[in-house]
Amino acid sequence: MDLNESVVVITGASSGIGEDVALRCAAKGAQLVLAARSADKLAALEQRIAQAGGRVMAVTTDVTDTAQVQHLADTTLQQHGRVDVLINNAGFGIFDPFINAQFDDLERMMRVNFYGMVHCTRAFVPQMIEGRRGQIINVASIAGIIAMRNMAFYTATKFAVIGFSRSLQHELRSTGVNCAVISPGPVRTNFFEQAEEQKMARLSRLSPWLKAEDVTRAVIRAIEHNQSGEIILPAITRPLVVLGRAFPGLVKLVARITG
Ligand SMILES: NC(=O)c1ccc[n+]([C@@H]2O[C@H](COP(=O)([O-])OP(=O)(O)OC[C@H]3O[C@@H](n4cnc5c(N)ncnc54)[C@H](OP(=O)(O)O)[C@@H]3O)[C@@H](O)[C@H]2O)c1
Repeated sequence: MDLNESVVVITGASSGIGEDVALRCAAKGAQLVLAARSADKLAALEQRIAQAGGRVMAVTTDVTDTAQVQHLADTTLQQHGRVDVLINNAGFGIFDPFINAQFDDLERMMRVNFYGMVHCTRAFVPQMIEGRRGQIINVASIAGIIAMRNMAFYTATKFAVIGFSRSLQHELRSTGVNCAVISPGPVRTNFFEQAEEQKMARLSRLSPWLKAEDVTRAVIRAIEHNQSGEIILPAITRPLVVLGRAFPGLVKLVARITG
């Protein structure tokens, strides 16, 4: 799909990967709808994109709230009459041993990372199917493929995102709507204000640090090539994932090294 003139909705657009994706999609001529909870940050990004000549609308949205998500969908359809691309990127991680974790934190992670994606997909996909055109991009994580110690809940939310995406890919076949799921290794963003960076440091031995723009490149490639399927970043971790699927014992060894 050509991004020029396409209507692109991005959740978690107020920082990190979502913000970077927004800036680069705007530069390619997309009509952007930015969603996140922080109205001030969204307004600043909206202004920055508009001043550079981009077409953009910010809709303050908490993806865990179905009424707010419906408002996001209604506002998008009223303004543009359609949606072409939905990027389900909103998410966060708290890394703690499961037995020490606060249950509220665990539930919140599931509500944002998994149910948030589900609510947004439900709100936008009917219109995409009706128009026989659409691209969904779900942002998962390498932690949704390789399970590591002290990340049980974050890992579970991202396994859920990947499982959901795989099933949806089958369901959407022949509808004109594609669904890609992107699983990056560690990316330098505000994510690590909550998820302790130190706990990701060992993982970075296996999966080198990425920049937000590395993820953005993969997102844009997926949109421009109408991709369905799984995308793992960086490329260097892909053999490990393939080997890990064939030899689960290897994953246990990796978990020990990185745990
Ligand atoms: N950084 C990494 O190492 C890494 C690696 C793999 C995958 N990921 C995934 O990449 C995605 C983006 O993370 P990031 O690294 O860019 O982190 P980030 O800079 O902290 O951005 C997270 C975004 O999610 C939004 N968000 C959080 N809760 C929300 C809610 N309830 N409703 C709407 N928006 C919400 C935040 O906006 P507000 O606070 O304004 O709502 C923010 O815009 C996440 O799904 C994360 O799990 C990150």
